[in-house]
Amino acid sequence: MIDLEKIPEHVAIIMDGNGRWAENRNLPRIAGHNAGMIAMKGIVKAASAIGVKHLTVYAFSTENWRRSSEEISGIFKLLVIYVEKELDELHQNNVKVRILGNYDKLPKEAVKSLERTLETTKGNTGLQFNIALNYGGRNEILRAVKKIAMKVEEGILKADEITERDIADNLYTSGIPDPDLLIRTSGEMRLSNYLLWQSAYSEFVFTDVLWPDFTRKDFENAIEIFQHRKRRFGGR
Ligand code: FPP
Repeated sequence: MIDLEKIPEHVAIIMDGNGRWAENRNLPRIAGHNAGMIAMKGIVKAASAIGVKHLTVYAFSTENWRRSSEEISGIFKLLVIYVEKELDELHQNNVKVRILGNYDKLPKEAVKSLERTLETTKGNTGLQFNIALNYGGRNEILRAVKKIAMKVEEGILKADEITERDIADNLYTSGIPDPDLLIRTSGEMRLSNYLLWQSAYSEFVFTDVLWPDFTRKDFENAIEIFQHRKRRFGGR
């Protein structure tokens, strides 16, 4: 049983294993992404019901552009379908959507759907659903460094006075607390350029379950494991 008094404020997820799920069934990879999208819907609902404040999912990385154009366009089509089908419900459930990453490089239709979603849900105060799209952790840090360097060039800031807070404030996640719990599915145990700065003290939970099979029960299990960890943040 999860302890409702100790719900992680921010849960981040690497939704991995869609491709293998499809291969196991002799289906095209995009069928795996479609099943992954359905799983994602379920976890958004679960997170909202449990009282998680921030849910951040890795939907498309800066490295995913190396995949076939068919798979890439399929993922973005699914994104549009997801947004068009779910927007009303997300809004009714008081969910606020935010995008992490350089999403204006996405296909036009996806950008349009996303902007409508951001606009519609911007005043909502329930679960904040952060979707990492065309996101890469190193790129995010580089972008922050450039923004800070500009301020130094302009004489607004002294190099010696740059703080960790300045860096955090210039990441896509500015204003979002660091993830307490980071879940990766499908048996892979690496960070893959996800939330590099933000995950400094996150608890990691890895599961062999492939993302399309990941249910509310699996999500609750991960939270339960998190609740049994002793977090010291480098202290004693
Ligand atoms: C990783 O599985 C998954 C992705 C790269 C895409 C995630 C996309 C979704 C969950 C559905 C689409 C929804 C949105 C909002 C874009 P993989 O393909 O790396 O699986 P594999 O490691 O088994 O090949």
